[in-house]
Amino acid sequence: MKAVILAGGFGTRLRPLSCTRPKLLFPIGNKPLLDWKLERLAKNGIKEVILAVNYMADAFIQRYGDSAYGMKLFYSKEEKPLRTGGPIKNAEEIIGREEIFLVLNGDILTNLDYSKLVKEHREKDATATIALHQVEDPSRYGVAELTEKNRIVQFVEKPTREKAPSNLINAGVYVLEPKIFDYIPSGQPVSIEREVFPKLADKGKLYGYPFEGLWTDIGKLEDYLKANKLLLDIEIKKSQLGKGVRLESGVKIKDPTVVGEKVVIGEKSEIGPHVVVGERVILGREVHAQNSVIFSGTVISDFTTVKGAVIGEDVTIGRKVKIGEGCMIGDHAVIRDNVTLTRDVTVCPSKEVAESVLTPKCLM
Ligand code: GDD
Ligand code: MG
Repeated sequence: MKAVILAGGFGTRLRPLSCTRPKLLFPIGNKPLLDWKLERLAKNGIKEVILAVNYMADAFIQRYGDSAYGMKLFYSKEEKPLRTGGPIKNAEEIIGREEIFLVLNGDILTNLDYSKLVKEHREKDATATIALHQVEDPSRYGVAELTEKNRIVQFVEKPTREKAPSNLINAGVYVLEPKIFDYIPSGQPVSIEREVFPKLADKGKLYGYPFEGLWTDIGKLEDYLKANKLLLDIEIKKSQLGKGVRLESGVKIKDPTVVGEKVVIGEKSEIGPHVVVGERVILGREVHAQNSVIFSGTVISDFTTVKGAVIGEDVTIGRKVKIGEGCMIGDHAVIRDNVTLTRDVTVCPSKEVAESVLTPKCLM
């Protein structure tokens, strides 16, 4: 069976970090999100994967080439973004009409058992079966109303909270019959959620598969941090130190935390819980980090605190700096000594910051 991964989209809400890498290549627990997905597909017996790409297509081709985890990779490129349905139609020739196939939103971290979803699909007279996950606030997602037999009678994309028919949301994983191609016009942007699923629901051909377990998308910064946190809590559990890590005396690593290869952590620093430190990062003495992700090659000097933030690659952060909740620091940025960035401050790639910023702001 083949799988299509929707890997386009601009990742607007993850700027400035998405200016230099596509959303699917953001690291989760030090491994790109897409790797987690490919690994899982391979374990579920998938042999061929089609990556539907547009924005930063070359970043994918460079990293994976034509195979990954023993599967063959194909790239289906779009001249212009075709949204979530258009790319499926665009890849019709590569997918073929012989058998059912999987479609995955690329920006999702989940431990869903794909084979169970496929089994569920085969047992019903469905053109599409959607994996469904229960959430507190469904308004940011596609929402399904189910019958007892798991048929979807209503599918609404991003309803207001009051109008949402349930708390069961589209988890962004589908099994589709080749018949789906007849529902998608070619050569134009199509939203499968808005233009195709409601039609299938009306015809009684749309089914749902509710599942529990790990699930989150990484649409915005807090989701991205949550994805890392869930992975650490559910899959990794105990802290992990990569090869060649050097911890000076009095360092405390609080579970669960992942430290990449060749990282150096200075005296009395306290790292964790829920911190991911990329490869070759250098942390000075008495650095405190919690609930944060630090990308590879970054240097953080003595007495600095990082809390609830994401720090890009090869960033340089001075002494006695405070970086607070919701801050995102672009690659190669420089934050000078004694600077405080209180909350929701984003710093563009290569920007130098010498003064404190005490209100949410984007520093260009
Ligand atoms: N190839 C391609 N081309 N991929 C695209 C394009 C495009 O033009 N636009 C978006 N994508 C990819 C994104 O990279 C992402 O992996 C996926 O399609 C979904 O797009 P998002 O922009 O992330 O949509 P969303 O998060 O607002 O909503 C979708 O996901 C929710 C679950 O996270 C919908 O499918 C909702 O119904 C769903 O609940
Ligand atoms: Mg999304």
